[in-house]
Amino acid sequence: MQLISETVVEGRAGPNFDRAYPVLEGVNLTDIARFSQGQPYADFARMRDQAPVMWHAEPNDGPGFWAVTRHADVMAVNGDPATFSSQRGGILMSIGKPEQRHSMLFRASLDALISMDAPNHLQLRREHMPYFTPGYLRGLTERVKGEVTRLLDGMAARGECDLVENFSAVLPLFTLCEILGVPAEDRPKFLKWMHYLEMAQNMAAEQATAGITPTLELMQFIADFNANVEEMFEYGRAMLHKRRLDPQPDLMSAIARATIEGEQLSDEFLDGSWLLIVFAGNDTTRNTLSGTMRLLTEFPDQHARLVASPELIPGAVNEFIRMVSPVIYMRRTATRDSVINGQTIAEGEKVVMYYGAANRDETVFPDANRLDVTRANADKHIAFGYGPHTCIGKRVAQIQLEEAYRQILARFPNMRWTGEIDIAPNNFVHAIRKLMVNWG
Ligand code: HEM
Repeated sequence: MQLISETVVEGRAGPNFDRAYPVLEGVNLTDIARFSQGQPYADFARMRDQAPVMWHAEPNDGPGFWAVTRHADVMAVNGDPATFSSQRGGILMSIGKPEQRHSMLFRASLDALISMDAPNHLQLRREHMPYFTPGYLRGLTERVKGEVTRLLDGMAARGECDLVENFSAVLPLFTLCEILGVPAEDRPKFLKWMHYLEMAQNMAAEQATAGITPTLELMQFIADFNANVEEMFEYGRAMLHKRRLDPQPDLMSAIARATIEGEQLSDEFLDGSWLLIVFAGNDTTRNTLSGTMRLLTEFPDQHARLVASPELIPGAVNEFIRMVSPVIYMRRTATRDSVINGQTIAEGEKVVMYYGAANRDETVFPDANRLDVTRANADKHIAFGYGPHTCIGKRVAQIQLEEAYRQILARFPNMRWTGEIDIAPNNFVHAIRKLMVNWG
């Protein structure tokens, strides 16, 4: 199969048709620094109300995009992959000129399942499926339970700690490594790689503004960043090649032996598959685990309900995911002229779907900014996407959240967020780097 990174269409500068809705003043979804305060829910509310398909310009000569914020419109875009392609330009926003990109990350983010359209998308997705079936996940659940207990045992005597470092960053990594088949001794490396991947956007932005005189600190960070990214890809490629020769009952072997158009994946697609699974399987769940603790602290009545009635926890998990919506957006490219909610979109223009905005749409979720652990339609959230690219790891994430909060609430019913938090400047994933908790 031809590399997607070689066919990628940059996008057509827009807007090419009249705007049906105004461009709202003060909304800037490309300013990553604003996302270190959390998702811009107040802006999202104004957009849903006054400009549900809003034209948004991009810096650095990016083509610009249509920002879609209503639940029904996000569903419509996701439900029509023939018109709104993942492959023509990938799912990430433009990050500027080629010299500002990390070439390997850029390439790998495109040469992957998530950036494919039919029919190759379905073919490669099928190869992953045996490791996401209910039968496989039953065995995994027991191992997740054991790991949750082990991590909480380690925290128990402390009374206060950073939940990210001690729990949320570690559990998804354990689970993913179990599915992939990564040996225990190699697992700590993943933590380091995740740290640098979360900082990728920040680094590109700092590099762009530093001009010709970057600080020593920035130069050192760039060197560390590059070394880590290289190490991550080298490790993945070596492991996948090893599995090709000596297959094991694990996801890594399934990816290594997958075929598209009758051929095994090229090294470029192996890199892309590796990056996708390492990032998608870790970061999203990690941030939902942390974000849930913050929510339970902000809504003490809901916390008390779950402590008193733990049987509500499985149902509450969808509400946690709805409220956190850790994936902020996914992008598509129009393959033909089309219309979304009265706005005509031109062929080649970009459309960006905001999941956090859709998941707080009052027309679907009344009193949407409130955590309600018994919300009847919480499962209508679209934090996992919708349509052919719906998250393949959805159930894996739910199992981890369920097991984690069942044990946390039983063992530490007084655990609370202290108010101290650090969120990365990242407008793609709501990335909580630190969340202090105590349970005095
Ligand atoms: C709360 C946790 C998670 C959230 C919110 C989440 C969110 C998403 C979203 C929104 C998509 C759709 C992408 C699109 O429409 O283009 C997606 C796809 C994907 N996710 Fe997740 N995810 C989570 C956990 C996981 C886990 C635990 C794994 C793996 C173990 C995983 C692996 C993937 C993969 C491989 C895809 C690509 C599927 C495809 O393109 O067919 N995710 N995820």
